[in-house]
Amino acid sequence: MSIGETIRKKRDGLRLDAQEIRDFVISYAKGEIPDYIASAFLMAVFIRGMDDEETLWLTSAMMESGETLDLSSIEGFKIDKHSTGGVGDKVSIILLPLVAACGLKIPMISGRGLGHTGGTIDKLEAIPGFRTRLSVEEFVKNVDEIGAAVMVQSERLVPADMKLYAMRDVTGTVESIPLIASSIMSKKIAEGIDGLVLDIKVGSGAFMKSDHEAEVLAEAMIDIGKKMGKRVTAVLTDMNQPLGRAVGNAVEMEEAIAALKGNGPADLMEVVYLLGEQMLLLAQVAKTPEAARKTLDRCLSSHQALEKFREIVERQGGDVNCIDDTNLLGVARGKTPVTSQQNGYIQGIDTYAIGSACVELGGGRKTIDQEVDRSLGLVLNKKIGDAVEEGETLLSILCNDVSEVERISPLLERTYTIGRRKVKPPSLKHKLIS
Ligand code: URA
Repeated sequence: MSIGETIRKKRDGLRLDAQEIRDFVISYAKGEIPDYIASAFLMAVFIRGMDDEETLWLTSAMMESGETLDLSSIEGFKIDKHSTGGVGDKVSIILLPLVAACGLKIPMISGRGLGHTGGTIDKLEAIPGFRTRLSVEEFVKNVDEIGAAVMVQSERLVPADMKLYAMRDVTGTVESIPLIASSIMSKKIAEGIDGLVLDIKVGSGAFMKSDHEAEVLAEAMIDIGKKMGKRVTAVLTDMNQPLGRAVGNAVEMEEAIAALKGNGPADLMEVVYLLGEQMLLLAQVAKTPEAARKTLDRCLSSHQALEKFREIVERQGGDVNCIDDTNLLGVARGKTPVTSQQNGYIQGIDTYAIGSACVELGGGRKTIDQEVDRSLGLVLNKKIGDAVEEGETLLSILCNDVSEVERISPLLERTYTIGRRKVKPPSLKHKLIS
């Protein structure tokens, strides 16, 4: 069947078969289908959805568009963690060295920013010289020798996700359960891991706005993992406000390095521990969450995790001086405050608006080939539950030029909900599904 017929079939709400899905994915990965046709396919799937079997076929085809790593010769439990996407979510950058310092092996294939959310790869590339395009051989060697490596999808590893991910980013087709599940699971299974911990973000800054939607996504990914013989645990975590205080590439890198030095904000560290515990439990190197937390704590406070990060950065060509002097990351010098118009308490934050403002500023992409300015971002001064007085700073915009601020200010006008009643910050852990 022609690709046009496949698109019409999905557009009309019909079920695709394995061959139709495979033909589309493999041809697109090989460059035989132009982007405008792929974007029509994505929009049809976005609107009509896919059932479990179609999602599994899509995942397999994406995975098989490139190589699947065989890491069986590497000793130790191979594990990874992946987030469904959030704002200010720099957890992977901290967990990669932290869990490797605890003795596990982490082969991490990550993505760039997606929609209004940031991406691990764009953040790591704020370190001058840091290479995220590794050869498969170098990636495997680093996992074997130092316990961790991180790379972006490539022509050899999940090329279909490399292309579809970039296309979804700019065509309004991100928030789709089959597209998210297949994107994440194809990468994770291609890595050759034994186990996976998923961070399913839920709330105003996540792709899944309700616990119910997040559970459906978690179940879809666990089901794919099970069918592919992988052990998968999912944790639903809160994304009703940015994690930590920093949003943007270089500034999030700065916050992640501070966390590895033991100075991370409490909410960020709580999510790091929640997911790290599940990774150690899945690998059976800890018997209880308490024991796992103790191990993580020891590796963090002894600076073993920080030293492991230094090793990863050095191996991947990054300037390790950035770790000691984070000014070298090049965070924008200009800081424009957005202030409160009233006294009260922060009752809510429109986290989607904050992520979108960062993209609009130039910290993310609006077209497929846009260069991201990693220096730009936002820093939150107030979070949910905090008291605020009229004229006090709610957040600061990090920029190099005031015209950037004028462009995004309208987006930030109604970001904070302020009222007279004090509210509790949302609980970070919504649910564990294992
Ligand atoms: N992370 C991914 O790799 N893909 C998605 O679709 C969402 C988050």
